[in-house]
Amino acid sequence: MPDRIYLDNAATTSLDPAVLAAMMPYLTERFGNPSSIYSYGRETRLAVETARKSVARILNTRPATIFFTSGGTESSNTAICGAVRDLGCRRIVTSPVEHHATLHTVENLQRRGEAVVEHVRLRPDGHIDLADLDRILVNGDGPALVTLMHANNEVGNLTDIRAVGEICRRHGAYFHSDTVQTVGHFPIDLQDLPVDFITGSGHKFHGPKGSGILYVREGIALSPFLQGGGQERNMRAGTENLYGIVGFARALELATERYEEDRAHVTSLKRSLMEGLRRSVDGVRFHGDPEGESLYTVLNVSLPRTERSEMILYNLDMAGVCVSGGSACTSGANQGSHVIRAIYGDEGGVAVRFSFCRHNTPEEVDRVVEQVRSLA
Ligand SMILES: Cc1ncc(COP(=O)(O)O)c(C=O)c1O
Repeated sequence: MPDRIYLDNAATTSLDPAVLAAMMPYLTERFGNPSSIYSYGRETRLAVETARKSVARILNTRPATIFFTSGGTESSNTAICGAVRDLGCRRIVTSPVEHHATLHTVENLQRRGEAVVEHVRLRPDGHIDLADLDRILVNGDGPALVTLMHANNEVGNLTDIRAVGEICRRHGAYFHSDTVQTVGHFPIDLQDLPVDFITGSGHKFHGPKGSGILYVREGIALSPFLQGGGQERNMRAGTENLYGIVGFARALELATERYEEDRAHVTSLKRSLMEGLRRSVDGVRFHGDPEGESLYTVLNVSLPRTERSEMILYNLDMAGVCVSGGSACTSGANQGSHVIRAIYGDEGGVAVRFSFCRHNTPEEVDRVVEQVRSLA
């Protein structure tokens, strides 16, 4: 097999060796339980709290608002179920293009009769229709939770979460945003953003899998999602994922230091892939709003539907190009994405999501254009 080209960084990224180096002492000699009172425990407690301070400083919030979790899925489950069970939100307003960590959680709450779920309309390019959000919130009564993602992991559309937060504030609704695709990729200033809950996942920005954060605005009290010990100030029971927490913080520090450089590099790769495909593949289009409000890391290509294009993920894999049809759960078989269906109905083409990171090169983009040209 030729050298593989990895262009599925929205699914997961490689672990940065500098992150691994920061984690190693906590996988080896510093193994103490952070809840132990003797020196082994004190040194690992210090590592957890130092990581929390670092994450809080980068996101411009207080350390007490940051809770370490196992990732984006757990963070969203905790916030959404907590808003319903502890904050009395009986209405949830969301969109049909959310990640399954949100969609399945709200569907489950609806099925159990704990909340009623309403979906905000999408514009033709897949962006949230903010006027419709306003209309939904005007018309309902009782506390509501709005859960809308900052960036869509499949098509890359970015939502103006400041505008969403302001609408929520006007109507007294709580606002949770799944920021898994933007934490570590965009500066986020929590002092300045009208959000109540956000989430982050280490493996999306060269940190370890199974590490994440939940931000809970000060003054909001949720009961723990996992019952047991009193870790994470009684918010999340279970012995801390020490090396994951240290790795999450180190990865976020490195991503923040390298932000300008990485963004410029990755943006140019995305642009040249768009241009290359436009030049060489007949009928190619792009899902979402790739030249407008969009992640610089994601390009979702729409190929005219043919027998060949239906097989493209498989054939690209054979050619050593690793991409997906949508979220990680649908890669491998192009069985259709709920996001593409929600935006385009049956009109969407065959979706191929390319997602980049700092390790990708212009030469890889050239090779991929050539492969898509010959396989589409
Ligand atoms: C937008 C979005 N939300 C949530 C998740 C789930 O995050 P995790 O894998 O950390 O549970 C992902 C990743 O797959 C994602 O892309």
